[in-house]
Amino acid sequence: MRDAKQFWDRSAARYAKSSIRDQAGYEKKLAITREYFRPDWSVLEFGCGTGSTAILHAPFVGHIVATDISDRMLEIARQKAEAASIDNVIFRQGTLDSLEFEPESFDAVLGLNILHLLEEVEGAISTVYGLLKPGGVFISSTALVGELNILWRAVIPLMQAVGLAPFVNRFRRGELVAMLEQSGFSIDREWQPGKGSLFIVARK
Ligand SMILES: C[S@@+](CC[C@H](N)C(=O)[O-])C[C@H]1O[C@@H](n2cnc3c(N)ncnc32)[C@H](O)[C@@H]1O
Repeated sequence: MRDAKQFWDRSAARYAKSSIRDQAGYEKKLAITREYFRPDWSVLEFGCGTGSTAILHAPFVGHIVATDISDRMLEIARQKAEAASIDNVIFRQGTLDSLEFEPESFDAVLGLNILHLLEEVEGAISTVYGLLKPGGVFISSTALVGELNILWRAVIPLMQAVGLAPFVNRFRRGELVAMLEQSGFSIDREWQPGKGSLFIVARK
């Protein structure tokens, strides 16, 4: 866990400057997410990074608690929210385990580009389930490292060895869907922008 924090603190400035690889796909995910949002909703985003998505979604809900393991990511996120005059996003440092939220207190939980970075994915999914109100939605966007071609899968350990890549899980589409269903979620919507990634709306 400490390794993850160090990696992401170190990467924050570079991550903030990086551009979105698939803008059309990103906008489609924003649009699908907003089909679910209601103006009074309480939303949790974990692994929010530099807050860009939370800031864009903020006008469509009551408030967003946006969390991340990295203080450096959150410093940048807070600056961006202030610059955009967004005051209904509360940024908090921590993980799903370290932050103690009330059970069944959120209408939606967002986990964007984060599940594949967790060592305990099943535990995280089950924590999210517990934090959602009945009928609430868990919206996730996840890299399916297990579906990437062999070259990519071979390069990752080399990058990890020199500190250029974080820990990654290698589950495939079916395994992620199964973990969600085993935790009690039903899949409401599923979209694969490409072979190596999966966007899912799962309902409690
Ligand atoms: C690939 S970035 C994604 C950021 C943002 N969600 C996005 O889509 O741009 C992954 C983020 O997850 C955070 N992170 C990594 N492990 C975490 C954990 N166990 N708990 C919370 N955040 C974590 C990192 O600090 C980083 O900001």
